[in-house]
Amino acid sequence: METKLLTSKQVKEAGAILKEGGLVGIPTETVYGLAANALDGKAVAKIFEAKGRPQDNPLIVHISDLSELDDLVAYVPPVVYDLADAFWPGPLTIIMDKADIIPDEVSAGLDTVAVRMPSHPVAREIIKAAGVPLAAPSANTSGKPSPTTAAHVMNDMNGKIDAVVDGGSCEVGVESTVITLATRKPKLLRPGRVTPEELEDVLGDELIIDDAVLGKLKDGEKAASPGMKYKHYSPSSDVFVVKGSFEAFKELIGKEATANTAVLVFDGEEKDFDILTLNFGEEDDDLAHAAKLFDALRTCDDKNVEKLYVRCPSDEGVGLAVMNRLLRAAEFKVLEV
Ligand code: TXA
Ligand code: MG
Repeated sequence: METKLLTSKQVKEAGAILKEGGLVGIPTETVYGLAANALDGKAVAKIFEAKGRPQDNPLIVHISDLSELDDLVAYVPPVVYDLADAFWPGPLTIIMDKADIIPDEVSAGLDTVAVRMPSHPVAREIIKAAGVPLAAPSANTSGKPSPTTAAHVMNDMNGKIDAVVDGGSCEVGVESTVITLATRKPKLLRPGRVTPEELEDVLGDELIIDDAVLGKLKDGEKAASPGMKYKHYSPSSDVFVVKGSFEAFKELIGKEATANTAVLVFDGEEKDFDILTLNFGEEDDDLAHAAKLFDALRTCDDKNVEKLYVRCPSDEGVGLAVMNRLLRAAEFKVLEV
């Protein structure tokens, strides 16, 4: 199949492909999504095939207006309107009990459905043009870092999907914050641009943070969100998170580096290395870390980097999301120097 590269002006064409049951890579403010008509089980099944995604990992349904929510869920918990007021359109996904209209392919057999209203103008126009809610996981091959440019999507999906719409680089760079309201108390399953502190401003002190957010699931432990049990965000390179001073980091690299080693370091630190050096932004800029992480991991793959050493960022604010992804990319390998 030839994968068409569409511009952000060609939303009608993207909408028509989706209406007919095709797959389109779409830009969102978080990462690129691989979209299909969420109400068409056959179309959604093709997403799993293109990504090589495990069948038991459910998808997020994307809407462009709050009025579309009613049909998708069994009922709308009242707090959803407060959350929508504060964070929609935007990078927050809310899990609720599903309506019968949601195909099993979307919910992966669960009784719940995840819903998000993206803020990216092109994503919103594509949903409107399609005239249906869109199921969309991140548009990467399963297990690879999420794509934050149309070129990343083409890299993974060329020949496997109908089209990709180029909407430029994603502003946030890590996937949406996921919370569930299908438990007795609201629970954060995946951290993102919307922080726990921001959620607590709306939910009060009710919010529970799932153990898997920073920790590693123990053998046999059940993941609240199926996606969290899979090896994730992993480039082919071996990733190490290095905690400690910059001086100690340099000493470590001096000892360990070979021709196929790379480093991911903060602004101003690049000049100290003569190996592939990737930029993580200012040391105290959690938004920059989020925006740069996946591109850095993908660059390592493109350049056949064997080992990547990463300066450990803060896990405060959006840093919680950055560390959540980084620790998984590193398979929890943290070096204290
Ligand atoms: O920012 C994002 O959320 C991007 C863009 C495209 O919207 N999408 C995204 O989708 O990251 P995906 O499929 O890569 O991640 C969705 C996560 C997975 O970990 C999945 O297991 C979880 O949400 N999830 C989806 N539906 C769920 C449900 N009903 N119950 C529990 N977890 C669910
Ligand atoms: Mg994903």
